[in-house]
Amino acid sequence: MDPNKHRPSSAFDSSYWTTNAGAPVWNNNSSLTVGSRGPILLEDYHLVEKIANFDRERIPERVVHARGASAKGFFEVTHDIAHLTCADFLRAPGVQTPVIVRFSTVVHERGSPESLRDPRGFSVKFYTREGNFDMVGNNMPVFFVRDGIKFPDMVHAFKPNPKSNVQEKWRIMDFFSHLPESLHMFTFLLDDLGIPQDYRHMEGFGVNAYTFLNKAGKEYLIKFHWKPTCGVKCLSPAEAIKVGGANHSHATKDLYDSIGAGNFPEWKLFIQVMDPDHQDKFDFDPLDVTKTWPEDIMPLQPVGRLVLNRNIDNFFGENEQIAFCPAIVVPGVYYSNDKLLQSRIFSYADAQRHRLGPNYLQLPVNAPKSPHHNNHHDGLMNFMHRDEEVNYFPSRFDPVRHAEKYPIPDSVVSGRRDKCVIDKENNFKQPGERYRSFSPDRQDRFISVVVDFLSDPRVTHEIRIIWISYWSQVDKSLGQKVASLLHVKPNI
Ligand code: HEM
Repeated sequence: MDPNKHRPSSAFDSSYWTTNAGAPVWNNNSSLTVGSRGPILLEDYHLVEKIANFDRERIPERVVHARGASAKGFFEVTHDIAHLTCADFLRAPGVQTPVIVRFSTVVHERGSPESLRDPRGFSVKFYTREGNFDMVGNNMPVFFVRDGIKFPDMVHAFKPNPKSNVQEKWRIMDFFSHLPESLHMFTFLLDDLGIPQDYRHMEGFGVNAYTFLNKAGKEYLIKFHWKPTCGVKCLSPAEAIKVGGANHSHATKDLYDSIGAGNFPEWKLFIQVMDPDHQDKFDFDPLDVTKTWPEDIMPLQPVGRLVLNRNIDNFFGENEQIAFCPAIVVPGVYYSNDKLLQSRIFSYADAQRHRLGPNYLQLPVNAPKSPHHNNHHDGLMNFMHRDEEVNYFPSRFDPVRHAEKYPIPDSVVSGRRDKCVIDKENNFKQPGERYRSFSPDRQDRFISVVVDFLSDPRVTHEIRIIWISYWSQVDKSLGQKVASLLHVKPNI
């Protein structure tokens, strides 16, 4: 055996108990004591190691999206989009790429019920030949805020009250009463879609706009959409209480059991494509993440399919240690100037260096499956085997060269240094269109959730009036219905 090649794995398990260092353990039942009833000896190394390991089993949970479930499978290109992007994994129909997907809830802790009203995360890690590509999305196509600087406050408002440790609706209604940009997202969260039946029956969205670049360097703004082949299904609030009461991991179980039974979940990937020269042609800013792009103008174009056909081997290694990051892209895919995406580019890797340590990308689930090389090395828990003598660049002894240049957006960016808002706020039009697209019974269900949120006794009259004014600007009859159910006479 080459000791340098040996990596810890249950495949190398001994047939008898050992310490972590491999020494035989002859008794895993009784501690080493002085006599049969005396105190335990500190020299019981195995006992101390066992308890010390146990004491450290938990790592910090994700600051958001702590609760989740993962599964593995593949992505297959079904339609030729090589004219839009030079991404190798999208090069031609039939090309398959291994993936791992993590679904999640957002607000509550690692062990919280999966039946709560909350957006769901939908993250896909593509292990491509040109490195990993992480598509870190949600099950709703828009977001609450359009500038990442508001994200920590937004999360604080949704998370439990720091005093009572209970999520309280008055805090949510108070915070967002300052932010009418959130209305569109609330027409998703407070709608039926706010409680998906499970992870298989929901859509996914890249949410932020990204850029595709083709071989010639031509740019396209794009949005990603995942559509489940088994359709979208949701739970009513009453069903959610029942389902969550019976099993707080119902969605994890559903995913695991259906893959185990050979009923493989599948999604089709579509993109919307915008010519960057057309960005100013709309009454909204296409880089504003609170907006959807009209599908009649930018229709969904099919790209491929995602099939989840393998359960994970280990929850800790493939769910807790997995690290997704919207900054992890491949040649042919680039960010856009969407302000919210720009903050996300920084935030995830920063969180993961804290949560998992500086070498988190060496963890098997995160490491690229393609060859990779650089001189970022050492640090806490580095376990990469290296035997080269040159760890600097450039060097006449090291043949490693720069990669071929690939296209990145080359448009000129200029302007005065400033803290700006997006000009075309247009906060009310799209939520109004969405509300009016609901069937009457869906509108009623939506209104009852809106009213439930505003009925929290700590929501003040002032906050209720503001919300009624917002909902009235979304749709007059919606505002009137909310006002009448809350017994409030708005002066609008
Ligand atoms: C500026 C706004 C945002 C910031 C600063 C932010 C930050 C974060 C952070 C720090 C994490 C935890 C990462 C970890 O510890 O591994 C996270 C997770 C996540 N975020 Fe965001 N986020 C933002 C907006 C969004 C948006 C718009 C989406 C949807 C497109 C989204 C989807 C997700 C998902 C799906 C995860 C969980 C990834 C996983 O499964 O591990 N986030 N976010």
